[in-house]
Amino acid sequence: MSFNGFPHDLNTDTDPIFQDRIRPFIESELKKLQEYDALRPADTLYIFHEHAHRVAEDMRRTCAHLGLPAFVCKTMYWTMLPHDIGKRLLPVALWDSEEKPTEEMKQKRRSHADLGLEIVGKEFGDTEHPFLALMKDIIGNHHEQMDGTGYRGLTGEQLSAPVKLACIIESFDGYQIRRPHFGDRDISTAGVLKRMREEKGAAFYDMELFEAFAEAKIGAHTRHPE
Ligand SMILES: [Fe+2]
Ligand SMILES: [Fe+2]
Repeated sequence: MSFNGFPHDLNTDTDPIFQDRIRPFIESELKKLQEYDALRPADTLYIFHEHAHRVAEDMRRTCAHLGLPAFVCKTMYWTMLPHDIGKRLLPVALWDSEEKPTEEMKQKRRSHADLGLEIVGKEFGDTEHPFLALMKDIIGNHHEQMDGTGYRGLTGEQLSAPVKLACIIESFDGYQIRRPHFGDRDISTAGVLKRMREEKGAAFYDMELFEAFAEAKIGAHTRHPE
């Protein structure tokens, strides 16, 4: 498997711009997302800042399973954390309605990717930095699908490997959170992986990365039985 696009030219532990500016920015944004979550109904199951931490950890584990060096896995963990920061700019009521969301609501929800990029743009302007480039790639494109049916309509050839992996991890976590319309759907780790593989498959995901993610997930599941 080729690892094109995973950042081997950057160590977040020693990079001064990351430590002085980017890390505090991400931490502050995650805190703001947590404050935003606190405004939502107490019984909501999709808590955004918790989702952010789960998917960042899944990213780190999958990268380790791919055999990437620990410092690269750590960079990827940090790039995944802020992927949904744009959500806090949307009205709270948009997320937790009892009814099926309208097309207009869906469009607004989808704008969180662009809104996230706006937040980054306000903070960093045109600052060029390899971490920022990757972070923006993931914020903007984490809801794409290989066949071009995602939020922005990009196809597999237009997506970097880190983004393709981010899309898989994002999708998995979304499916594993129980929602009212899921009924009695199997949301166990194995059940969700099976559904993604059989119902979505290569139309949505890079299957080589998907199987690596699945192995990392099942391995983690076996080591820490629920
Ligand atoms: Fe998202
Ligand atoms: Fe997300």
